[in-house]
Amino acid sequence: LRILHATPECAPWVKTGGLGDVSAALPGALARLGHDVKLLLPAYPALRPLLEAGRPLAEWSAHGPWPGGRLVHAGRHRGVDLLLHDCPALFDRPGGPYEDAQGDNARRFAAFAHLAARLATAGSPWPAWQPDLLHVHDWPAALAPAYLQRLPGPRAASVLTIHNLAFQGNFPLHLAHELELPGEWLHPEGIEFWHQVSFLKAGVQFADALTTVSPNYAREILGTAHGCGFDGILRRRAHRLVGILNGVDRELWNPATDPHLPARYDARALPRKAVNKRVLQDRLGLEQSGAPMLFGLVGRLTHQKGIDLVVAVTPWLVEQGAQLAVLGQGEPALEAALQALAERHRGRVAVRLGFDEPLAHLIEAGCDAFLMPSRFEPCGLNQLYSLAYGTVPIVRATGGLADTVQEGHTGFVFDDPEPAALQSALERALAAYRQPVAWRALQQAGMGQDHGWEASAARYAALYGDVLARRGADAF
Ligand code: ADP
Ligand code: GLC
Repeated sequence: LRILHATPECAPWVKTGGLGDVSAALPGALARLGHDVKLLLPAYPALRPLLEAGRPLAEWSAHGPWPGGRLVHAGRHRGVDLLLHDCPALFDRPGGPYEDAQGDNARRFAAFAHLAARLATAGSPWPAWQPDLLHVHDWPAALAPAYLQRLPGPRAASVLTIHNLAFQGNFPLHLAHELELPGEWLHPEGIEFWHQVSFLKAGVQFADALTTVSPNYAREILGTAHGCGFDGILRRRAHRLVGILNGVDRELWNPATDPHLPARYDARALPRKAVNKRVLQDRLGLEQSGAPMLFGLVGRLTHQKGIDLVVAVTPWLVEQGAQLAVLGQGEPALEAALQALAERHRGRVAVRLGFDEPLAHLIEAGCDAFLMPSRFEPCGLNQLYSLAYGTVPIVRATGGLADTVQEGHTGFVFDDPEPAALQSALERALAAYRQPVAWRALQQAGMGQDHGWEASAARYAALYGDVLARRGADAF
């Protein structure tokens, strides 16, 4: 099949979280299955070198609300053609991909989604390659399935993946007209969400199939607790919704080959993992005497991730003789609380604020256990990396965490989003760590699991096949 992915972030160029990792890995895994896969990404400043070296495929001038721009082929990466939406007025600006300093995110990502949709229709600005299927990720690309309905002529089928239902792309209703979203869609049964126009809701309504990133999250979002107000429409479209687990990109996250590690290792050479622990402790100013158990955390420091629970139990954890290494950035109050803990417990708690890919790898490799006490977690990648690195994950039983970590077998799992519940999971982990044979069994059980992308890519491919078979004559 010819498959076009449209995504707002892709590692290593632009990454704010797991979507960057998935966008870098899933298209390649589909290409390895024999599909013809291309990836459309906005040409942010980080992509300028590739843009300048790239080959223009199409150019258009402004039409209606859509600014002029170019489509540029920016090379082939791991078997996937990278296509850039070059529109400096929208994308060539400093800051993160979703920073909205100019207040025009609706326009920026609507233009991106509109291009994705045009590329998947007969009126494509680049008719030389027409996809059978357009696969869009999260709210920034989610208008594309809606625009596909509006554009004339035959068109590709569409799939929307929801990586996090909490991010919905809701904007003032009056923008709808300007973004060529027709008035007849502007009601709660259409794309309106509490008097706003919702990009994600548009995708949910119009995509031929919906996916999310774990089977458990696919069930959870049908209920009010995790539905973020979308559970009603999702229940109506539940027959089109499936949960497919994310995988681990083994080229990037493999302790046996990871270039960021001072000592590489695998399940048979676990003692070498200790070298990484020493280097990590040294680098973060953590004490080495007394062989303390070292817990790690890497992630967005937000309410979603349950960082407040970690803040609450850290003094107790330090009393147990353990250590904590945190890397992340996010809500200022959580950053400050973590920094205060690091001040108070020098040598026992280390906190690094910022985004640091090499340090994230060293924490995965150097820690004994990894904390993910998320309130909700569509899939979660760090627990999968932790399993692969023999770093025992301690997770809340939610979303993809519940699908991938087994209590007492590959990690420790707790239910209530309360400090006491996290603390009791930590007690179980500390007790297991005191028994080296049992601990090694936990590590090896996790390392023995196969969370590669192959199985998940095959599920996506099967879904594409179903979607195309269902729409039959409509397709190209
Ligand atoms: P989410 O997408 O909700 O943020 P995931 O667990 O799916 O959570 O993915 C997070 C990804 O981002 C992982 O690859 C993780 O290592 C990375 N990451 C998060 N915060 C940082 C950081 N501060 N520095 C380096 N990598 C980070
Ligand atoms: C989202 C989710 C995370 C998931 C990632 C990639 O950011 O919060 O759980 O792993 O997307 O799908």
